[in-house]
Amino acid sequence: QQHALQIALDGPAGAGKSTVAKIVAEKLKLFYVDTGAMYRAIAYKVLKINAPIDDETRVSQIAKETEIVLDHSDKRIVWCDGEEVTEEIRSPDVSRAVSVVASYPGVRKRLLELQRLEANRGGVVMDGRDIGTYVLPEADFKFFLTATPEERAKRRWLELAKIGKEVPLQEVTQDMVERDRLDTEREVSPLKPAEDAIILDTTGIGIDELVTKILTLVQGG
Ligand code: CDP
Ligand code: CDP
Repeated sequence: QQHALQIALDGPAGAGKSTVAKIVAEKLKLFYVDTGAMYRAIAYKVLKINAPIDDETRVSQIAKETEIVLDHSDKRIVWCDGEEVTEEIRSPDVSRAVSVVASYPGVRKRLLELQRLEANRGGVVMDGRDIGTYVLPEADFKFFLTATPEERAKRRWLELAKIGKEVPLQEVTQDMVERDRLDTEREVSPLKPAEDAIILDTTGIGIDELVTKILTLVQGG
């Protein structure tokens, strides 16, 4: 059997991972797997049923019992226990809760199983925080996208403004910096580049240029 191509994309919030991953996956005819959506779905469920988020045992149990399905069409629908939650999982409340949920080993263990199952479907572009270091350590290509916190926050803020959500830039920045801190400092699978990752600083770099760079590296290598 021919080896299926695996591309890992990691980095902090707003670095451009999901935007780039979608385009690269489409061009190379690979599946795009958004692992952040899985963590977000668990955080959504915890908030929805009003479970105490600091109760690690309870939250881990919820993660085990929750059915998450990611759609592979370009609509990128996300289901949580049969309910469509595509938009809900991007809310500021979920964004504020997700890094706490993602710090629990029990939650990560459960989602790792799902992520490996997704990778077994065929070639993938997978984005997240620990794909190159932990989920797909044998990935053919590992990219770690970064950009200054100012630029990343501005991107998120613009994205929210475009859909009519007027949130102060300062609030977006604060939430993002706090999430990055939790993701970087946690004990299990923290956010950090794999030793063999190619680090791409996307500050001031447009999406087209970034995609071209990645495609050149992948197709030339
Ligand atoms: O798109 P954005 O950068 O806002 O975040 P995301 O990729 O949707 O991920 C949301 C959160 O899930 C992150 O801040 C992490 O706390 C967690 N996450 C993780 O711990 N490991 C992953 N592989 C992916 C996401
Ligand atoms: O997935 P991640 O959180 O890393 O970032 P994203 O959701 O792909 O990108 C956040 C926003 O920044 C999106 O609205 C992108 O269109 C935008 N972006 C950009 O303007 N320039 C880049 N080089 C990368 C992303």
